[in-house]
Order: sequence, then C-alpha cells, then structure tokens
Amino acid sequence: MAIEPVNINEFQELAKQALPKMYYDYYTGGAEDQYTLKENVEAFSRILFQPTTLLDVSRINLSTTVLGYNLSSPIMLAPTGCHKLAHPEGEIATARAAAACKTIMVLSCVSTCTVEEVASSCDAIRFFQLYVYRRRDVSSQLVQRAERCGYKAIVLTVDTPRVGRREADIKNKMIMPEIPELKNFEGLMSTEVDSEKGSKLEAFASEILDPSLSWKDIGWLKSITNLPILIKGVLTAEDAVKAVDVGVAGIIVSNHGARQLDYTPPTISVLEEVVQAVGGKIPVLLDGGVRRGTDVFKALALGAQAVLIGRPVLYGLAAMGENGVKACHRDAQG
Ligand code: FNR
Repeated sequence: MAIEPVNINEFQELAKQALPKMYYDYYTGGAEDQYTLKENVEAFSRILFQPTTLLDVSRINLSTTVLGYNLSSPIMLAPTGCHKLAHPEGEIATARAAAACKTIMVLSCVSTCTVEEVASSCDAIRFFQLYVYRRRDVSSQLVQRAERCGYKAIVLTVDTPRVGRREADIKNKMIMPEIPELKNFEGLMSTEVDSEKGSKLEAFASEILDPSLSWKDIGWLKSITNLPILIKGVLTAEDAVKAVDVGVAGIIVSNHGARQLDYTPPTISVLEEVVQAVGGKIPVLLDGGVRRGTDVFKALALGAQAVLIGRPVLYGLAAMGENGVKACHRDAQG
C-alpha cells in the first residue's frame, strides 16, 4: 500500500508525480527570480517560539470566526485558478472538502467550474474572488451571479494589474486550457488568445485585466454589490489605512503566493505592521507560505484572524482529489 503523506511537502511530491510538468510548474512557480517565493516559506522558519510551560492544554479549541462565519480552524482555502488541471472534479471537489473541513473556500473567478456549479455542489461557505476586467460589465455580471447564488463576500485581488513574469510558464508556453475551460466566462467574453510566443496565460490575462484599477474603484464595486468586500494583496500600513478608510470589511495580507511582483517582502514579515495600522477595525487575514500548524500559530500570534492556503490545496487535489484537499487542510494544522 502506498505510504500516506504526513505533511504538505509530501503532498507536493505526489502532485509532482501526478501532474504534467506544464501544470505542476504553473502551480508551484513564482515570478522572476522567485526570491519572494522562497522567502514566503523561509521567513516563517526564522520566527521561533519561546514557550512558557506547565499550562493546562488539555482542552484546545481551534475554531474561529471570519466575518461572523464559524470555522473549525483558522485555515481557509485561498482562491487559485483552474482546478480541473489538477483533478477532473475541479473546484467542486475543493468546495466539498471545504464543507467537510468546515472552512471557507474562496472561489477564483478563473475557475474551471462555474460559480453556480460550485454553489449547488455542497453547502460550503464560499467567498468569490474577483479580478477587475477592462470589460467592467463582465466583472459586474460575475459579482452579481456570485451574490445570487449565495457567496458571502467578494475578495477583490489588487496585486494583479497585469500578470507577473513567471518564467516557467513562459518556457512551457503555458496554455489556457480549452478543456477544461474557464467556464465562468462562457457567453460573456472569449478566452482565446492567438499569441504563439511565451505564456498564453500571460497573454490572455494582459488582454483582459484592467490595469487602471485604483482606490476609487472600490466605490464602483460597492455600488454593484451588497456583499462585504475584502481586499487581497495589501503589504503596507499605508494601504491598510486606505482600505479601512474606503470601508472594506477585511484585508488579506498577500503577495499572491510570490507570483506577481518579485522582491516584495514575505507576507509574515509585514503582518504586524498591517495589523497595527488597522487597529482592530477590520479583520486581517494572511496567505503565502503557510505549510504547517506552527506557521498558522505564528500568523495568529502576530495578529491575523485566520490564514489561507493556496498551493497546498492544489497539491492535495492533484494527489487525491477531495480527500487530498481535506488531508492538506488537516496537515496545515499539524
Ligand atoms: C494563485 N493565486 C490567486 N489569487 C487570486 O486572487 N486569484 C487567482 O485566480 C489566483 N490563482 C492562483 C493560481 C495558482 C496556481 C496559485 C499558486 C496561486 C494566489 C493565491 O490566492 C494565494 O495568494 C497564494 O497561493 C498563497 O500562497 P501559497 O499558500 O500558495 O504559498
């Protein structure tokens, strides 16, 4: 019998065996020199504990709340694109795992199952992640569809005015999959690109993303939805203060898993600064490099309400489908 993986790194190995190189590289890779990619993980390992002892720890409760929703543990599933590249059930398997783990799944708008399919597959608490497109009508239709089928919040990703330079994807000529498709866009806009060079993913995204997105657009987003808005991609106290001022419901400290601007600081190193600037007015979450329970504990100790895991979900999904996602969620606690 195959040996059960006991941690996320072992799941990563299984994912590597399971996936075509192009997709494995797409999932694992970061931007340019991948300095921030390494640092996201290593910065956690530079934080050490100095435990006090002889405390009664016989009753431990990992549960928490995010925007009023109860979670079994402070570990949510970050939005990542194209889950059908990892497993034929795609985001539906991920959502079912989220429901089983009693956590929140943030569905990427570049998903390979539609917002409606994911919503009707199970009763997981779901947030919807949004990129703002040049075609604002496409973004607003996606938001309204998510709102109609019970997503509880919009997660606006603000670190992607264009796609980062991911050299593995360029070399592999990473293609937007025709099958599985980016199903949310069916009937809304074409996902075809005619670029023959480099990453087709990058070419597609550059064509559709709105690089003019700025703080004033939070007002636009608020005007098209009643859902609470979280901003994903804050790395400074300055932006944290602006986010509070424009009235968002939460902040996700994130550098997009080091896939966007390289040489940004690892997220754990700027968490405290953001938390202090926010002063408890709204919840602060964090993602990037979280691989074990000790990482989660460090983030909570520095003021995060919860963390999100990105790649670990994809590794679990590629290795073992829904059960793999559940196992990786469990391993992120241990
Ligand atoms: C992402 N991420 C991401 N973020 C987002 O807002 N929308 C998206 O569609 C995607 N897609 C995506 C694909 C892949 C393959 C990865 C690895 C990441 C970023 C993601 O939400 C999160 O910020 C990071 O993945 C967190 O870092 P770790 O946990 O992967 O180290």
